[in-house]
Amino acid sequence: MLDLLSDLGRRAAAALATHLAATGGAVDGLPAELPVVRAGKPEFGDFQISACLQIAKQAKRPPRELAEAVVRGLTGHEALAKIEIAGPGFVNLHLTDGWLANRVAARMSDPRLGLRPVGRDQRVVIDYSAPNVAKPMHIGHIRSTIVGAALHRTLKALAYDVIADNHIGDWGTQFGKLIVAYRRWNDQAAYAADPVTELLRLYVAFSVEEKRERGEVAATATATATATEPATDEEEVQGPAPPILEEARRELVKLQAGDAENHALWQKFIADSRHAFQEIYDRLGVTFDYWLGESTYNGLLPTVVQELRRRGIARDSRGAQVIFFDEQGEVLAAERAPIENAKLPPFIVQKSDGGFNYASTDVATLAIRLGLFGASRILIVTDERQQLHFRQLFAVARRMGVTVPVEHIWFGLMRMAEGTIKTREGNVIHLADLLDEAERRATVAAGEHNPELGDEERRDVGRVVGIGAVKYNDLSKDRQTLVTFTFDKALSLQGNTAPYLQYAYARIRSIVRKSGEAPSPSATVILGDTVERDLARRILAYPEAVETVARTCRPHVLCDYLYELATAFSTFYADHPVLKAEPTLRASRLVLTELTARVLRDGLSLLGIDVLERM
Ligand code: ARG
Repeated sequence: MLDLLSDLGRRAAAALATHLAATGGAVDGLPAELPVVRAGKPEFGDFQISACLQIAKQAKRPPRELAEAVVRGLTGHEALAKIEIAGPGFVNLHLTDGWLANRVAARMSDPRLGLRPVGRDQRVVIDYSAPNVAKPMHIGHIRSTIVGAALHRTLKALAYDVIADNHIGDWGTQFGKLIVAYRRWNDQAAYAADPVTELLRLYVAFSVEEKRERGEVAATATATATATEPATDEEEVQGPAPPILEEARRELVKLQAGDAENHALWQKFIADSRHAFQEIYDRLGVTFDYWLGESTYNGLLPTVVQELRRRGIARDSRGAQVIFFDEQGEVLAAERAPIENAKLPPFIVQKSDGGFNYASTDVATLAIRLGLFGASRILIVTDERQQLHFRQLFAVARRMGVTVPVEHIWFGLMRMAEGTIKTREGNVIHLADLLDEAERRATVAAGEHNPELGDEERRDVGRVVGIGAVKYNDLSKDRQTLVTFTFDKALSLQGNTAPYLQYAYARIRSIVRKSGEAPSPSATVILGDTVERDLARRILAYPEAVETVARTCRPHVLCDYLYELATAFSTFYADHPVLKAEPTLRASRLVLTELTARVLRDGLSLLGIDVLERM
């Protein structure tokens, strides 16, 4: 379908250019291909070209005259049954049933279901998940992991050369604190049982002690805040530092200087945390090509800052190395974002005490991704709170002469409805607990739904549905909206949910099984009415949805598409018998049925969601 749309768009543009040239109307930058978009209503046909209206203004011509030129250019095209001019100058295109039917039939022997290798020769680096060492993955990392993994799979399916990098927070001031807390309070048995939870407890204990020493009342709320901030966030210390903080600084300096004992502890914290993260990734089916954590770049940081200074991008400001944007008049782009159009605040790349930070690390990271990996596009998936940081970073990149697209794929934080899940120490919701509970509930529901399932099968269904539901709940909403998670909504069998699609898939597969034959790739497809025609059109639109996800990094577009496909199928199946139809119609309808199942399975797999043949 996408090839058809480009073909129509190019022909329309050529006809327009010829017409304008012949009549002496010149237009600057006439596109080589007019946009051909899906029509909003069935009465407008299948597709629509609206570009004549815009171009008419520039050419100072009546829009309908230009629309007529487009109609002349497209008349006789094999795929078109009817071309009409509507309203002030829209061109409505109606496809022939024959063309649609042939295309659908051809999909039966296309294992890629129409997906085009549009990413060939392009290398995308995608940075997602990136949890912080010694802290359990919190709810912000869940979305980054799920959204990032879906983008990772989608880009791969379109033949992009993707490098997935888990930029874990494995460096920073928290390690000085952890070393102190570990030596003072580590509970060996607790650590052996669950190192990350024990490390979090130690981290919290440190904050409590710090607060106490500061003479303040221990505020337990701090734990939540600290646990969700980037690992290398600047320390904000007012007044004289409490002794425990001084001690943590000394331990950090020792670690940075290569002290053997501290170095070993640091390595241990990383190894144990990575192990815990890996367990989650295994459950979620998430993989990375590299785990280049923040510490990877340590050795490069002095050079990065020196180079920024040499190029006049950074300069000394009261002993710190700082990049100022207002001098050059950089202004934030007007985007839909909580940060208003304001001048970018200064970007500190080296603190006055000589320490490097999250900012300098990200400049170094960018250099490696561009230089070593030869990225032609870089995507960084984090929650919305890091928007300012990345705007600053990208402004620095532009000053460094970087021209490849570098995008911050931010998402709104996910909230838990009150009482959804019990939080553990530090008020942090553990991803593992969330997944356990989802699986448990889905297992119970599977048993109620189908009492014939054996124990093992029921647990399988519970696992696939539970994990799928958590993922889909995140993916199906525009990532820039706030998501409130409730198990009832995520696990519902009604509406735009993973369980709905998974059950729809299993039901469709059972129809094909009952037919007792493999749907034939050589069957003639018959589109008898608008319902069958609509289903065929939706099947063919799969590549469009997938390419849109890759371009906009918005997986909900694919979710919406799959949900509409499943709905179109159930409308079709409600009054179009498949198994009981006469032989030619039966063969045709089996093709539509089989293709719906294939697209559902493929689309869900791009989202990282499994399906089952029986549920
Ligand atoms: N570790 C960071 C956090 O938890 C996310 C890192 C994102 N990637 C990057 N290159 N800064 O917030």
